[in-house]
Amino acid sequence: FSTIIEPFRIHSVEPLRMTTRAERREYLRAASFNLFQLRAEHVLIDLLTDSGTGAMSRDQWAALQHGDESYAGSPSFYLFADAVRELFPFRHVIPVHQGRAAEKILFTALGGPGKVVPNNTHFDTTRANVEATGALAVDLVVAEGRDPASDHPFKGNMDLAALEQLLTTSGDDVPCVFVTITNNSGGGQPVSLENLRGVRALCDRFGKLLFLDACRFAENAWFIREREEGQGDREVADIVREVASLADGMTMSAKKDPMGNIGGWLAMNDDRLAEECRNMLILTEGFPTYGGLAGRDLEALAQGLKEVVQHDYLRYRIRSTAYLGEALQKRGIPVLSPFGGHAVYLDARALADHLDPLEYPGQSVAVALYEIGGIRSCEIGTVMFGRQPDGSEVPAAMDLVRLAIPRRTYTQSHVDYVIEVCEQVAARAHELPAYRIVEEPRMLRHFTARFEPV
Ligand code: F0G
Repeated sequence: FSTIIEPFRIHSVEPLRMTTRAERREYLRAASFNLFQLRAEHVLIDLLTDSGTGAMSRDQWAALQHGDESYAGSPSFYLFADAVRELFPFRHVIPVHQGRAAEKILFTALGGPGKVVPNNTHFDTTRANVEATGALAVDLVVAEGRDPASDHPFKGNMDLAALEQLLTTSGDDVPCVFVTITNNSGGGQPVSLENLRGVRALCDRFGKLLFLDACRFAENAWFIREREEGQGDREVADIVREVASLADGMTMSAKKDPMGNIGGWLAMNDDRLAEECRNMLILTEGFPTYGGLAGRDLEALAQGLKEVVQHDYLRYRIRSTAYLGEALQKRGIPVLSPFGGHAVYLDARALADHLDPLEYPGQSVAVALYEIGGIRSCEIGTVMFGRQPDGSEVPAAMDLVRLAIPRRTYTQSHVDYVIEVCEQVAARAHELPAYRIVEEPRMLRHFTARFEPV
C-alpha cells in the first residue's frame, strides 16, 4: 500500500483552541510580533519546535509510575544509563535537564578565549554556549548544505577539506570537533556514515576529541539506511551504534528523538573530563544520578529510546514530514529539499524576495502564518543568527521558516490544514512587510526581541 499510516492510535486527547484572525492580530501586537512571546493557547497548530512537544506512549506513561525518586543511586538512573549505552556505549553517562545544560558544562570544561570549536552547523544554544566562554564557533558544513535547492542526500555533512585546513592552521586551539546529527540549523539534513568516518580519521590524525550533538540520531540513522550505499538492510539501532563508535562523546537533548518532554545527557569515554563535568553538574544540575531530572523522567526516557529506533515509527515519521514538504513543493512554494527529518523549511528569502535579509523575510513569513492560520513556526535565519559576537549584523546563510513536526502529535488532516494556510501565505508573500527590531537582548535575541512591521 502507498498510504503510510500513523503506527499508533489515539489514547488521550487535548483540545485545540480556535481563534479569529482579528484576535490573532491583537495577540501579535501584544507579543511584539515575536512568536516565542505568544501564549500557547492562542496557537492552533504549534510547529514552533519538535522539542519536548511530542506525545509520550502508553508505555512511557506507565514507566513514569516506576520512577524511583531516591536522591542518590536511584534504580531509574541505572535503567536510563543502560538504555543510553544500548545505543551509545560511552563509559560515562551524565543526565542533565536538557541539551543546553550539557553544552554549558562541556564547553565550560573545553572552551575559553582563543579556542575554536568546529561543527557542521552549531545550533543556536550550542553556538551561544561556545561563545559565552570566549571561544569561536565555526560552521563547516559542505557547500551543498548552504544551497536550499541542492538535492544532495547528506547536506548535513562536514566539509572535510575545510576541517583539515582548520586543524592544520589552528589545530592547537581546537579542543574538540562537533558533528550535529541531523543538522538542524541547516534544514534537518543528515550526515552520512562515510562523512563521519572521514571526520574521525581527521580527529585521529590531529589528536582531537570528536563529539556528537545527537538530538535527532534516529532520524539521521534512518536517512543513512535509506540513502547510503550498503546500509539498506541494517537495523537502525545497529547504525546508531556504529555512529556512536566513531565518536568520543556526545551532548544530547532528550526532548527530541528520545521522546521526552524534558531531559538530556552528556556522555563520554574520557575519565578525567567526565570527572570535571560531574563536578560542574553538581553545582548547577544536581547529583550525577539524576542531574536535574526526576527519577520518573529517567524512566520515560529509557522507554522512549526503545521506541524511537523502531522501523515502523521512523518510516511514518520521515514519510509524514515528506508528505508536507511534497505538498508545498507541488504548489510551487519554495522549500528546502530534500526535506528534513523533523521539519520542513520554507525558503523565506525566495518566497518574500522583495525583502532584504536584514528586513527579516523569515520573521515576516512566520508572522503571516500565524495571523492567517494560527500556525506557529520558527524563523531560522537572520533574526536567529545575524548578530555577530562583535556587535555587527550580517545576513545569515539562509532565511528559513521551520515547520517543525512534534512527534506522534498531529494527524494528516492537521497537516492538510497547514498546507492550505501555507498556500494562502505564499499567494500574498510579495505584500508581506519588512520588520525591524525595536529592542533585543545581548545574546539569543530571537527568543525575546521586540519587532515592528515597517
Ligand atoms: N542541539 C540541537 C541540534 C538542537 O536542535 C537543540 C534544541 C539543542 C542542541 C539544545 O537542546 O533545547 O534541550 O536545550 N533544539 C530545539 C529546537 C530547541 O527547536 O530545534 P535543548
